[in-house]
Amino acid sequence: MRKKIVIANWKMNKGLSEGLQLVDEIASDSSIRSNDVLKVIAPSFVHLASVADKLKNANGFAASAQNCHHVKNGAYTGEVSAEMIASAGAKYVIIGHSERRQYFNENNELLAQKVNVALANNLVPVFCIGENLTERNANQHLEVVTRQMKESLYHLLPADFSKVIIAYEPVWAIGTGVTATVHQAQGMHNHIRSEINKKYGKEVSSATSILYGGSCNPQNARELFACIDVDGGLIGGASLNAEDFIAVIKSFGS
Ligand code: PGA
Repeated sequence: MRKKIVIANWKMNKGLSEGLQLVDEIASDSSIRSNDVLKVIAPSFVHLASVADKLKNANGFAASAQNCHHVKNGAYTGEVSAEMIASAGAKYVIIGHSERRQYFNENNELLAQKVNVALANNLVPVFCIGENLTERNANQHLEVVTRQMKESLYHLLPADFSKVIIAYEPVWAIGTGVTATVHQAQGMHNHIRSEINKKYGKEVSSATSILYGGSCNPQNARELFACIDVDGGLIGGASLNAEDFIAVIKSFGS
């Protein structure tokens, strides 16, 4: 179902006590505790069970992993399966983040397998798509994200696709301080929703949550979240302190 969602992607940051303190600060803030925004926190794998445990009874909060392995289980030393993530108490998993695509050579075909194994374990995939600067400058951005969805998600039946959250993250905006303009964000989100409409129909496309990510912060979140097709944000840098993250969560218009 289409919802307002803000996800904290801590990436490879925070030790255990520091992370748990941040969770406490966010989850105990009375101004966001009972609003209608779903708040998801994605710490590292090693802290996932502790964060999930802390959020267990916090209304409107959930824990997410930042990645999962693409097969069910087996001899893959050092890897973490979707089943392990679910057993740690997480409900979400980020799949296909551009840093995974770029530094770990994850391609659309591999990501399709990750989506499958996540869904098989009742995890909600937060599927990241987005073009790099070269593609944007060559005016290929629409086609790039369409291909990413086609090759990693379009094998899903409508009932499974409906469980997926899409995160549009232009690679040139991630961690750079450069944010997509409202015009660029709304243009792309509208494109994504209309592509989903073409493939799965109106009922599914209008119910899909599409988040924006890439230098989203308290200064720009309000105008981005006001866009008709932007349902929230995937937040990196600004999720690493409570004040900024809470301000982003409070950036939805009433
Ligand atoms: P950023 O990261 O907010 O630091 O740009 C977003 C992300 O990579 O998910």
